[in-house]
Amino acid sequence: MLERIRELIRGKLGELPFEVNFSDPPAGGEGRGHLNTNAAFPLAKQISASPLKAAEELKKYLEEKGADFFSKIEVAEPGFLNIWLTPEVIREELEEIVEAGEKWGTLKHLDKLSARARVIVEYSQPNIAKPMHVGHLRSTIIGDALANILEFAGYEVIRWNYLGDWGTQFGNVIAAYKLWGDKHEVERAPVEVLAGLYARFHEEMKKDPELEERGREEFRKLETGDKENRELWEWFKEESIKELNKIYALLDIKFDEWISESFYEKALPSLIDSLLKKGIAKESEGAVIVPLEKFNLPPALIRKSDEGTLYLTRDIANLEYRLKEYKADSVLYVVDNGQSLHFQQLFAVAEILRLKGDFHHIKFGLVLGEGLKRLSTRAGRHIALLEVINEAVERARKVIEGKQSKMSNEEKEEVAKVVGIGALKYNDLSQNRMADIAFDWDKMLSLQGNSAPYLQYTYARLKSILRKAENIPVFEAGAIEKEADLRLILKLAFFPEVIEEVSKNYLPHQLANYLYDLARAINDYYEKEPILKAEPGLRTARLHLVKAAAEVLKTGLGLLGIKTVERM
Ligand code: ARG
Repeated sequence: MLERIRELIRGKLGELPFEVNFSDPPAGGEGRGHLNTNAAFPLAKQISASPLKAAEELKKYLEEKGADFFSKIEVAEPGFLNIWLTPEVIREELEEIVEAGEKWGTLKHLDKLSARARVIVEYSQPNIAKPMHVGHLRSTIIGDALANILEFAGYEVIRWNYLGDWGTQFGNVIAAYKLWGDKHEVERAPVEVLAGLYARFHEEMKKDPELEERGREEFRKLETGDKENRELWEWFKEESIKELNKIYALLDIKFDEWISESFYEKALPSLIDSLLKKGIAKESEGAVIVPLEKFNLPPALIRKSDEGTLYLTRDIANLEYRLKEYKADSVLYVVDNGQSLHFQQLFAVAEILRLKGDFHHIKFGLVLGEGLKRLSTRAGRHIALLEVINEAVERARKVIEGKQSKMSNEEKEEVAKVVGIGALKYNDLSQNRMADIAFDWDKMLSLQGNSAPYLQYTYARLKSILRKAENIPVFEAGAIEKEADLRLILKLAFFPEVIEEVSKNYLPHQLANYLYDLARAINDYYEKEPILKAEPGLRTARLHLVKAAAEVLKTGLGLLGIKTVERM
């Protein structure tokens, strides 16, 4: 429906490079029609008239061309159009929504493509032999949501976990392990013990500078394939991955690709050579750099004077590889704000190398403690993630404990998990990712506010209505004519719009906010309108509407990585 109206308006705008956007008025704004558009503003420029005049003209045009679409069009200051749709058009939309079922929201124009654009979404990316920190948790949650949304929209998505498993620090870990390590200890709690050894190494290095050389030597041996060091490193990696997988299993996160930093090591000498030969890189005080003055950026250091390569060097090789071997059309790097410069440099080098594709650093802010205080580096970065996740589930259990006595313990357990983890994810995804976010447990778990439990609860209530209805007769939209029904259908009509927006701007909070709006509209609707007790024709139509609304909630939450339960 919205596409058809968009096409109509486009007919008037001609080739104007302008995206026709719609919004539906917020609750209480019913006097502003069903849809609003600002399409008259670019038209005003084109015909050199005031926006108000242009709006008048667009109104006339639409009334003529779309007589059976619109029941009323009003011009509003300073040049907006308020549009009322005919009940038939909205009823048809519900028919389409019901027919699409679970697929409602996928983008039809992408569906029709023979070859879909391929997007690599890189997220999580923790480092081995170190605990995963809250920044990695945000990346995991945001990246998973974006990958889900893009895939649902119709893109081909590759989910990539790029582990940090290379660099001189692993020489230190190996050296520390050889000095003080214990196999059984590492097996008992690999990441904790290895990180502890690494920290001790750093401490002792202050007193004993020789350790530095020792660490470097162990890394050199690792690089040149020394058997013992290679085996140690592989073991550290294996143990670390086992631990990471526990977190991923709890959060229900999956990856298609695990190619990590170490994979690119072998390709680096020839990469650096070719950059030198092409005159893109140059030697400077024994190191190799790529000057980036043109981009107003500090030079990219790609080889240190001690021959060591860098994080950035590996990322250049990585990007080339993804384009060549995976034929990626775009690559999204979901990494915290703190690495902005790194990605600016990487994309600048990509431009010099004429690497073709759409590359984006999907940035996000910090996680703050209660009261918006910055978590101190120590406490914050090393907050044990498993503990945070367990705490979310524990608190969710208390919230539902009081509500449902009829549930079996098993069911309660499952609901606590779904609600707790949902709350954790939604807290992140409902806020603009660029902002710093806080852990405010009460808000996260509130059954009233903008929280996962509120949305999950709304869904469960809809399901309970549907259960009570038992057999629902075949859909017939005819009985629907009340404004309350039409408005709710319109809300559902906006779902594909939101998916399209988010798959362009990579801001999942817009989907979260849409779902919250939808949930409020639904709650408002069934407090006022009878569903099960409506007269038969209307009852059937409304049950289908409720079912469609439940489906959009479930699909939308699912895209955010959040599960639903049938009762709560
Ligand atoms: N492992 C890195 C870290 O923990 C993040 C990797 C980000 N991705 C990338 N392609 N550089 O800081």
